[in-house]
Amino acid sequence: MIELELSEEQRQLQRTARKFADEVMSPVAQEHDEQHKFPREIIEKGWELGLLNMTIPERFGGIELSCVSQVIVAEECSAGCVGMATSMIANDLALLPILIGATEEQKKKFVQPFTEKMRYTSFGLTEPNAGSDVAGMTTTIRSDGDDYVINGAKMWITNGSHAEQFSLFGKTDPAAGHKGITCVVVPGDAKGITRGKPERKMGQNASDTIGLTFEDVRVPKANRIGAEGEGFKIAMQTLDASRPLTAAFALGVARKAMEHAIAYSQERKAFKQPIANFQAIQFMIAEMAMKLQGARLLTYQAAALVDKKEERSSLISAYAKAMAADVAMEITTNAVQVFGGYGYSKEYPVEKLMRDAKLIQIYEGTSQIQRMVIARQIYGGANPSGGLV
Ligand code: CAA
Repeated sequence: MIELELSEEQRQLQRTARKFADEVMSPVAQEHDEQHKFPREIIEKGWELGLLNMTIPERFGGIELSCVSQVIVAEECSAGCVGMATSMIANDLALLPILIGATEEQKKKFVQPFTEKMRYTSFGLTEPNAGSDVAGMTTTIRSDGDDYVINGAKMWITNGSHAEQFSLFGKTDPAAGHKGITCVVVPGDAKGITRGKPERKMGQNASDTIGLTFEDVRVPKANRIGAEGEGFKIAMQTLDASRPLTAAFALGVARKAMEHAIAYSQERKAFKQPIANFQAIQFMIAEMAMKLQGARLLTYQAAALVDKKEERSSLISAYAKAMAADVAMEITTNAVQVFGGYGYSKEYPVEKLMRDAKLIQIYEGTSQIQRMVIARQIYGGANPSGGLV
């Protein structure tokens, strides 16, 4: 049975997130982008409204939203400003490995504090020389009595400047490829962590992105999440669950660009009439609307599969992430085109959306990696329809 209706509770959540995006995020989005300013106060307000840490179970004081509900929030917030939304969702991404692989006692220790006050946590997977190739990471987690000693570097870490805790992946057995990867929780104040300067990026400038180095950083073995060697699987399961949210970011950015393009095309006159009268423009708007809705339906299907839990959502999560990111790139690029010269100007909102969209094709697994996941799933026997056919 397919139901494509949101519940009243989900509509309310959507209204709350949209009001926050329209009234709190959007008015200062341009300024944060231009000044590369971290939106600390805005994120704190979002935390108070329950728009962060959405995955935390109720038993630890969280609101435990379904993935579908999180997708609703993610689309709205990214329509406000996706750079800010990326920094908001980074906590959920970092908490997921703990929720997937930790014991109840560890979850209480490492997850519950995030419901008590606004704290930041970061997901530490990517390295300077290992982005797409997770198994190629070289950070080491060496056993030393009751402790682990961590050495290595991480790169492109969202909210890394502010994190009080890292969900970090490294190798306890460097010779064992992906089977040697382990996940540990590292307190942000551990001795030996050096935080780099915020990266200067093309877009999503409100989000904080840094590199980190770990030099003989010591953590107790009790901070290990899951067994030694289980880290790769935990990371992949985390990404399966978080990719629908990244897809929802793309929906928010694309929707905003389309709305601007529709409004502008009705105002702007050329050849004595609004440019919306021209078929060339109408076809661009029609393409935007249908592709956005196609990507949205895939995103909801992926989120619904994540919520089902009993089956791997890798295939549909990858479809959603790749499709939505590519569609957002196309829609934002065409929105700039509809605006013509003004679209290229920083006085108008669409150039920011185009720059912001580009990153969605790169982070959380590039568009090419999503296609690799899709092909492997299909050749591995997965049902390409996700069970619909
Ligand atoms: N769930 C469970 N198990 C999985 C799995 C999944 N989703 N994906 C793979 N596995 C298992 C495989 O079954 C295989 O198991 P066996 O050992 O039993 O054979 C094992 O893991 C190894 O799998 P692969 O052979 O497919 O591994 P690979 O080394 O070829 O890499 C990859 C696979 C898909 C390319 C992976 O490296 C990948 O996803 N790369 C992209 C990384 C990424 O998305 N990074 C994003 C960082 S976070 C971020 O960007 C956030 C931000 O800034 C905001």
